[in-house]
Amino acid sequence: MKALVLSGGSGTRLRPFSYSMPKQLIPIANKPVLEYVLESIRDAGITDIGIVVGDWASAIDEAIGDGSRLGVRVTYIRQDEPRGLGHCVAIARDFLGDDDFVMYLGDNFLPDGILRSTEEFTARRPAAQVLVYKVADPRQFGIVELDQHGNVRGLVEKPEQPVSDLAVVGVYFFTSAIHDAVDAIPPSARGELEITDAIQWLLTNGAEVRAIEYQGYWKDTGRTEDVLECNRHQLGALRSANLGDVDDASELVGQVVIGPGARVLRSRIEGPVVVGANTVVEASNIGPYTAIGENCLVRTTNLGDSIVLDGASISDVPGLRGSLIGRSATIRSRATGRRMVVGDDAWIELAA
Ligand code: TTP
Repeated sequence: MKALVLSGGSGTRLRPFSYSMPKQLIPIANKPVLEYVLESIRDAGITDIGIVVGDWASAIDEAIGDGSRLGVRVTYIRQDEPRGLGHCVAIARDFLGDDDFVMYLGDNFLPDGILRSTEEFTARRPAAQVLVYKVADPRQFGIVELDQHGNVRGLVEKPEQPVSDLAVVGVYFFTSAIHDAVDAIPPSARGELEITDAIQWLLTNGAEVRAIEYQGYWKDTGRTEDVLECNRHQLGALRSANLGDVDDASELVGQVVIGPGARVLRSRIEGPVVVGANTVVEASNIGPYTAIGENCLVRTTNLGDSIVLDGASISDVPGLRGSLIGRSATIRSRATGRRMVVGDDAWIELAA
Protein backbone atom coordinates (compact mmCIF):
# COMPACT_ATOMS: atom_id res chain seq x y z
CA MET A 1 0.00 0.00 0.00
CA LYS A 2 1.15 3.53 -0.80
CA ALA A 3 0.27 7.03 0.40
CA LEU A 4 -0.39 10.20 -1.55
CA VAL A 5 0.02 13.40 0.48
CA LEU A 6 -1.35 16.62 -0.99
CA SER A 7 0.88 19.60 -0.25
CA GLY A 8 0.12 21.93 -3.12
CA GLY A 9 -2.91 24.20 -3.10
CA SER A 10 -3.10 27.95 -2.70
CA GLY A 11 -3.85 28.34 1.01
CA THR A 12 -5.80 31.58 0.53
CA ARG A 13 -7.50 31.17 3.91
CA LEU A 14 -4.11 31.17 5.63
CA ARG A 15 -2.86 34.46 4.26
CA PRO A 16 -0.59 36.22 4.98
CA PHE A 17 1.38 33.11 6.07
CA SER A 18 0.79 31.35 2.77
CA TYR A 19 2.48 34.25 0.94
CA SER A 20 5.83 33.26 2.38
CA MET A 21 5.52 29.56 3.21
CA PRO A 22 3.42 26.51 2.38
CA LYS A 23 0.62 26.10 4.92
CA GLN A 24 1.63 22.47 5.43
CA LEU A 25 4.80 23.72 7.15
CA ILE A 26 2.97 25.85 9.75
CA PRO A 27 4.16 24.55 13.13
CA ILE A 28 1.85 22.96 15.69
CA ALA A 29 3.68 22.72 19.05
CA ASN A 30 6.85 23.60 17.09
CA LYS A 31 6.53 20.80 14.51
CA PRO A 32 5.20 21.30 10.95
CA VAL A 33 1.73 19.89 10.24
CA LEU A 34 3.26 17.89 7.36
CA GLU A 35 5.57 16.02 9.76
CA TYR A 36 2.57 14.87 11.80
CA VAL A 37 1.00 13.72 8.52
CA LEU A 38 4.04 11.67 7.47
CA GLU A 39 4.43 10.17 10.96
CA SER A 40 0.78 9.16 11.03
CA ILE A 41 1.17 7.39 7.66
CA ARG A 42 4.41 5.72 8.76
CA ASP A 43 2.80 4.54 12.02
CA ALA A 44 0.07 2.89 9.93
CA GLY A 45 2.85 0.82 8.31
CA ILE A 46 3.05 2.72 5.00
CA THR A 47 6.45 4.03 3.98
CA ASP A 48 6.20 4.60 0.23
CA ILE A 49 4.82 8.15 0.05
CA GLY A 50 4.21 10.46 -2.92
CA ILE A 51 3.92 14.15 -2.02
CA VAL A 52 2.11 16.43 -4.47
CA VAL A 53 3.73 19.86 -4.38
CA GLY A 54 3.04 23.15 -6.13
CA ASP A 55 4.94 26.43 -6.12
CA TRP A 56 6.37 25.73 -2.65
CA ALA A 57 8.12 22.54 -3.84
CA SER A 58 11.58 23.66 -2.76
CA ALA A 59 10.49 24.73 0.77
CA ILE A 60 8.83 21.34 1.28
CA ASP A 61 11.85 19.49 -0.10
CA GLU A 62 14.09 21.47 2.25
CA ALA A 63 11.95 20.54 5.28
CA ILE A 64 11.24 16.89 4.45
CA GLY A 65 13.93 15.86 1.94
CA ASP A 66 13.83 12.19 0.99
CA GLY A 67 11.89 11.39 4.18
CA SER A 68 14.62 9.18 5.67
CA ARG A 69 14.77 11.31 8.85
CA LEU A 70 11.14 10.28 9.46
CA GLY A 71 11.60 6.67 8.37
CA VAL A 72 9.71 6.99 5.06
CA ARG A 73 10.61 7.14 1.34
CA VAL A 74 9.32 10.27 -0.39
CA THR A 75 8.70 10.79 -4.11
CA TYR A 76 7.77 14.36 -5.13
CA ILE A 77 5.07 14.88 -7.74
CA ARG A 78 4.82 18.38 -9.19
CA GLN A 79 1.40 19.92 -9.82
CA ASP A 80 1.54 22.95 -12.15
CA GLU A 81 -1.57 24.64 -10.68
CA PRO A 82 -4.05 23.74 -7.92
CA ARG A 83 -6.45 21.87 -10.22
CA GLY A 84 -8.26 19.87 -7.54
CA LEU A 85 -7.82 16.78 -5.39
CA GLY A 86 -8.91 14.53 -8.26
CA HIS A 87 -6.21 16.08 -10.44
CA CYS A 88 -3.63 15.14 -7.78
CA VAL A 89 -4.66 11.48 -8.15
CA ALA A 90 -4.41 11.76 -11.95
CA ILE A 91 -0.86 13.18 -11.94
CA ALA A 92 0.25 10.57 -9.41
CA ARG A 93 -0.84 7.69 -11.69
CA ASP A 94 2.71 6.51 -12.48
CA PHE A 95 3.76 6.66 -8.83
CA LEU A 96 0.63 4.83 -7.63
CA GLY A 97 0.52 2.11 -10.30
CA ASP A 98 -2.31 -0.30 -9.46
CA ASP A 99 -1.64 -0.24 -5.72
CA ASP A 100 -4.17 0.56 -3.02
CA PHE A 101 -3.40 3.90 -1.41
CA VAL A 102 -4.39 6.38 1.25
CA MET A 103 -4.78 9.98 0.09
CA TYR A 104 -4.03 12.36 2.95
CA LEU A 105 -4.45 16.13 2.79
CA GLY A 106 -1.17 17.68 3.94
CA ASP A 107 -2.91 20.32 6.06
CA ASN A 108 -5.06 17.87 8.04
CA PHE A 109 -4.15 17.23 11.65
CA LEU A 110 -4.94 13.77 13.07
CA PRO A 111 -2.46 13.26 15.92
CA ASP A 112 -4.17 10.00 16.96
CA GLY A 113 -3.15 8.48 13.63
CA ILE A 114 -4.80 6.29 11.01
CA LEU A 115 -3.68 2.79 11.97
CA ARG A 116 -7.18 1.50 12.75
CA SER A 117 -8.71 3.14 9.69
CA THR A 118 -5.99 1.57 7.51
CA GLU A 119 -6.66 -1.87 9.03
CA GLU A 120 -10.39 -1.46 8.41
CA PHE A 121 -9.69 -0.63 4.77
CA THR A 122 -7.26 -3.46 4.11
CA ALA A 123 -9.58 -6.01 5.77
CA ARG A 124 -12.38 -5.27 3.28
CA ARG A 125 -10.88 -3.29 0.38
CA PRO A 126 -13.94 -1.31 -0.79
CA ALA A 127 -13.31 0.83 -3.89
CA ALA A 128 -13.25 3.84 -1.55
CA GLN A 129 -13.31 4.32 2.20
CA VAL A 130 -13.88 7.79 3.60
CA LEU A 131 -13.51 8.80 7.22
CA VAL A 132 -16.29 10.94 8.67
CA TYR A 133 -16.50 13.10 11.76
CA LYS A 134 -19.56 14.63 13.45
CA VAL A 135 -19.41 18.43 13.19
CA ALA A 136 -21.48 21.24 14.64
CA ASP A 137 -21.90 23.21 11.40
CA PRO A 138 -22.04 20.82 8.40
CA ARG A 139 -22.52 23.71 5.94
CA GLN A 140 -18.77 24.39 6.06
CA PHE A 141 -17.71 20.86 5.06
CA GLY A 142 -18.06 18.10 2.51
CA ILE A 143 -20.89 15.98 3.94
CA VAL A 144 -21.70 12.28 3.56
CA GLU A 145 -25.25 11.03 3.25
CA LEU A 146 -25.83 7.48 4.53
CA ASP A 147 -28.78 5.14 3.95
CA GLN A 148 -30.47 3.30 6.82
CA HIS A 149 -27.82 0.52 6.66
CA GLY A 150 -24.95 2.95 7.03
CA ASN A 151 -23.93 2.70 3.35
CA VAL A 152 -22.82 5.89 1.60
CA ARG A 153 -25.55 7.26 -0.65
CA GLY A 154 -23.87 10.45 -1.71
CA LEU A 155 -21.41 13.24 -0.96
CA VAL A 156 -22.27 16.93 -1.00
CA GLU A 157 -19.77 19.79 -0.87
CA LYS A 158 -20.71 22.53 1.68
CA PRO A 159 -24.51 21.97 1.48
CA GLU A 160 -26.87 24.81 2.35
CA GLN A 161 -29.41 22.26 3.61
CA PRO A 162 -27.22 19.52 5.15
CA VAL A 163 -28.64 16.01 5.06
CA SER A 164 -26.32 14.84 7.86
CA ASP A 165 -23.71 16.18 10.29
CA LEU A 166 -20.99 13.80 9.06
CA ALA A 167 -18.12 15.76 7.56
CA VAL A 168 -15.58 14.07 5.28
CA VAL A 169 -12.13 13.99 6.92
CA GLY A 170 -9.13 14.74 4.65
CA VAL A 171 -8.00 11.09 4.59
CA TYR A 172 -9.36 8.78 1.86
CA PHE A 173 -8.57 5.15 1.08
CA PHE A 174 -8.79 3.89 -2.49
CA THR A 175 -8.18 0.82 -4.61
CA SER A 176 -7.06 1.38 -8.20
CA ALA A 177 -10.77 1.65 -9.13
CA ILE A 178 -10.48 5.39 -8.40
CA HIS A 179 -8.39 5.94 -11.57
CA ASP A 180 -11.29 5.10 -13.91
CA ALA A 181 -13.47 7.45 -11.87
CA VAL A 182 -10.97 10.33 -12.06
CA ASP A 183 -10.59 9.75 -15.83
CA ALA A 184 -14.36 9.81 -16.29
CA ILE A 185 -15.36 12.99 -14.44
CA PRO A 186 -15.34 16.48 -15.97
CA PRO A 187 -13.94 19.53 -14.12
CA SER A 188 -16.44 21.17 -11.73
CA ALA A 189 -17.91 24.67 -12.01
CA ARG A 190 -14.78 26.05 -10.29
CA GLY A 191 -12.63 24.30 -12.88
CA GLU A 192 -11.21 21.60 -10.58
CA LEU A 193 -11.29 17.81 -10.70
CA GLU A 194 -13.19 17.12 -7.48
CA ILE A 195 -12.50 13.95 -5.53
CA THR A 196 -16.12 14.07 -4.29
CA ASP A 197 -17.27 13.80 -7.95
CA ALA A 198 -14.95 10.82 -8.48
CA ILE A 199 -16.35 9.07 -5.38
CA GLN A 200 -19.89 9.88 -6.53
CA TRP A 201 -19.00 8.31 -9.90
CA LEU A 202 -17.91 5.12 -8.10
CA LEU A 203 -21.25 5.02 -6.25
CA THR A 204 -23.26 5.59 -9.44
CA ASN A 205 -21.34 2.77 -11.11
CA GLY A 206 -22.14 0.31 -8.33
CA ALA A 207 -18.78 0.27 -6.53
CA GLU A 208 -18.61 -0.11 -2.76
CA VAL A 209 -17.92 3.13 -0.88
CA ARG A 210 -17.67 2.86 2.90
CA ALA A 211 -17.78 5.56 5.55
CA ILE A 212 -16.09 4.96 8.90
CA GLU A 213 -16.55 7.34 11.79
CA TYR A 214 -13.13 8.59 12.86
CA GLN A 215 -12.65 8.22 16.62
CA GLY A 216 -9.62 10.45 17.27
CA TYR A 217 -8.99 14.19 17.09
CA TRP A 218 -9.33 15.78 13.65
CA LYS A 219 -8.93 19.30 12.41
CA ASP A 220 -8.27 20.82 9.01
CA THR A 221 -5.68 23.56 9.63
CA GLY A 222 -7.04 25.75 6.83
CA ARG A 223 -7.56 28.90 8.95
CA THR A 224 -5.58 30.61 11.73
CA GLU A 225 -8.22 29.76 14.38
CA ASP A 226 -7.85 26.08 13.46
CA VAL A 227 -4.07 26.26 13.72
CA LEU A 228 -4.32 27.77 17.21
CA GLU A 229 -6.85 25.13 18.25
CA CYS A 230 -4.55 22.32 17.07
CA ASN A 231 -1.70 23.95 18.96
CA ARG A 232 -3.76 23.95 22.18
CA HIS A 233 -4.72 20.33 21.61
CA GLN A 234 -1.20 19.14 20.91
CA LEU A 235 0.40 21.12 23.74
CA GLY A 236 -2.07 19.41 26.09
CA ALA A 237 -0.01 16.23 25.60
CA LEU A 238 3.37 17.89 26.29
CA ARG A 239 5.92 16.37 28.72
CA SER A 240 8.44 18.66 30.44
CA ALA A 241 12.07 18.76 29.38
CA ASN A 242 14.70 21.39 29.98
CA LEU A 243 17.59 21.39 27.52
CA GLY A 244 18.34 25.08 27.96
CA ASP A 245 19.12 27.49 30.77
CA VAL A 246 16.57 28.72 33.30
CA ASP A 247 17.86 31.23 35.89
CA ASP A 248 16.99 31.11 39.61
CA ALA A 249 14.69 34.12 39.31
CA SER A 250 12.43 32.25 36.88
CA GLU A 251 9.57 29.88 37.63
CA LEU A 252 8.29 27.06 35.40
CA VAL A 253 4.83 25.69 36.23
CA GLY A 254 3.24 22.62 34.61
CA GLN A 255 4.53 21.01 31.42
CA VAL A 256 7.25 23.17 29.88
CA VAL A 257 9.82 22.25 27.23
CA ILE A 258 12.88 24.48 26.91
CA GLY A 259 14.89 23.75 23.77
CA PRO A 260 18.67 23.45 23.52
CA GLY A 261 20.50 26.76 23.86
CA ALA A 262 17.32 28.59 24.95
CA ARG A 263 17.54 30.96 27.95
CA VAL A 264 14.83 31.95 30.39
CA LEU A 265 15.62 34.94 32.58
CA ARG A 266 13.46 36.50 35.36
CA SER A 267 10.31 35.03 33.80
CA ARG A 268 7.31 32.94 34.74
CA ILE A 269 6.24 30.23 32.31
CA GLU A 270 2.95 28.46 32.89
CA GLY A 271 2.70 25.29 30.80
CA PRO A 272 1.92 23.80 28.54
CA VAL A 273 4.55 25.84 26.74
CA VAL A 274 7.35 24.96 24.36
CA VAL A 275 10.30 27.31 23.83
CA GLY A 276 12.43 26.57 20.76
CA ALA A 277 16.20 26.26 20.51
CA ASN A 278 18.29 29.41 21.08
CA THR A 279 15.28 31.54 21.99
CA VAL A 280 15.58 34.10 24.80
CA VAL A 281 12.67 34.80 27.16
CA GLU A 282 13.36 37.66 29.53
CA ALA A 283 11.26 39.38 32.23
CA SER A 284 8.10 37.92 30.73
CA ASN A 285 4.99 35.91 31.57
CA ILE A 286 4.41 33.14 29.06
CA GLY A 287 1.57 30.64 28.74
CA PRO A 288 -0.45 28.62 28.96
CA TYR A 289 -0.83 26.96 25.49
CA THR A 290 2.01 28.77 23.78
CA ALA A 291 4.63 27.56 21.31
CA ILE A 292 7.62 29.79 20.60
CA GLY A 293 9.93 28.80 17.75
CA GLU A 294 13.72 28.92 17.45
CA ASN A 295 15.91 32.04 17.65
CA CYS A 296 13.15 34.27 19.01
CA LEU A 297 13.37 37.06 21.56
CA VAL A 298 10.51 37.67 24.01
CA ARG A 299 11.20 40.48 26.47
CA THR A 300 8.99 42.19 29.12
CA THR A 301 5.95 40.68 27.48
CA ASN A 302 2.85 38.82 28.57
CA LEU A 303 2.09 36.16 25.96
CA GLY A 304 -0.42 33.27 26.03
CA ASP A 305 -2.43 30.93 23.76
CA SER A 306 -0.21 31.75 20.78
CA ILE A 307 2.23 30.49 18.20
CA VAL A 308 5.41 32.43 17.47
CA LEU A 309 7.42 31.33 14.45
CA ASP A 310 11.22 31.25 14.20
CA GLY A 311 13.22 34.44 14.50
CA ALA A 312 10.37 36.66 15.76
CA SER A 313 11.01 39.36 18.33
CA ILE A 314 8.40 40.63 20.80
CA SER A 315 9.22 43.26 23.41
CA ASP A 316 7.29 45.35 25.94
CA VAL A 317 3.89 44.01 24.90
CA PRO A 318 1.70 43.63 27.99
CA GLY A 319 -1.07 41.31 26.77
CA LEU A 320 -0.80 39.19 23.64
CA ARG A 321 -3.25 36.28 23.31
CA GLY A 322 -4.66 34.08 20.55
CA SER A 323 -1.93 35.26 18.19
CA LEU A 324 -0.01 33.73 15.31
CA ILE A 325 3.24 35.65 14.72
CA GLY A 326 5.16 35.01 11.51
CA ARG A 327 8.85 34.33 10.96
CA SER A 328 11.20 37.19 11.88
CA ALA A 329 8.26 39.50 12.68
CA THR A 330 8.90 42.30 15.18
CA ILE A 331 6.31 43.51 17.69
CA ARG A 332 7.21 46.12 20.28
CA SER A 333 5.54 48.92 22.15
CA ARG A 334 6.14 52.62 21.59
CA ALA A 335 5.92 55.54 24.00
CA THR A 336 3.55 57.57 21.84
CA GLY A 337 1.18 56.76 19.00
CA ARG A 338 1.11 53.55 17.00
CA ARG A 339 3.25 52.58 14.10
CA MET A 340 2.82 49.53 11.89
CA VAL A 341 4.54 48.05 8.89
CA VAL A 342 1.96 45.45 7.89
CA GLY A 343 2.07 43.08 4.93
CA ASP A 344 -0.78 42.16 2.59
CA ASP A 345 -3.80 40.49 4.20
CA ALA A 346 -2.34 40.83 7.70
CA TRP A 347 -4.77 40.97 10.59
CA ILE A 348 -4.25 43.14 13.65
CA GLU A 349 -6.61 43.68 16.57
CA LEU A 350 -5.87 46.44 19.09
CA ALA A 351 -7.52 47.02 22.44
CA ALA A 352 -9.64 50.20 22.32
P1 TTP B 1 -7.66 23.03 0.29
O1 TTP B 1 -7.42 23.51 1.69
O2 TTP B 1 -9.02 22.56 -0.01
O3 TTP B 1 -7.27 24.14 -0.76
P2 TTP B 1 -6.16 25.26 -0.72
O4 TTP B 1 -4.83 24.75 -0.26
O5 TTP B 1 -6.15 25.85 -2.09
O6 TTP B 1 -6.61 26.31 0.42
P3 TTP B 1 -7.62 27.56 0.38
O7 TTP B 1 -8.99 26.97 0.25
O8 TTP B 1 -7.40 28.23 1.73
O9 TTP B 1 -7.21 28.45 -0.76
O10 TTP B 1 -6.65 21.85 -0.03
C1 TTP B 1 -6.55 20.73 0.80
C2 TTP B 1 -5.14 20.16 0.73
O11 TTP B 1 -4.87 19.67 -0.59
C3 TTP B 1 -4.05 21.15 1.03
O12 TTP B 1 -3.01 20.50 1.73
C4 TTP B 1 -3.58 21.60 -0.32
C5 TTP B 1 -3.79 20.36 -1.19
N1 TTP B 1 -4.13 20.61 -2.58
C6 TTP B 1 -3.25 20.23 -3.60
O13 TTP B 1 -2.17 19.70 -3.31
N2 TTP B 1 -3.59 20.45 -4.89
C7 TTP B 1 -4.79 21.01 -5.26
O14 TTP B 1 -5.06 21.16 -6.47
C8 TTP B 1 -5.69 21.42 -4.19
C9 TTP B 1 -7.01 22.05 -4.52
C10 TTP B 1 -5.31 21.19 -2.89
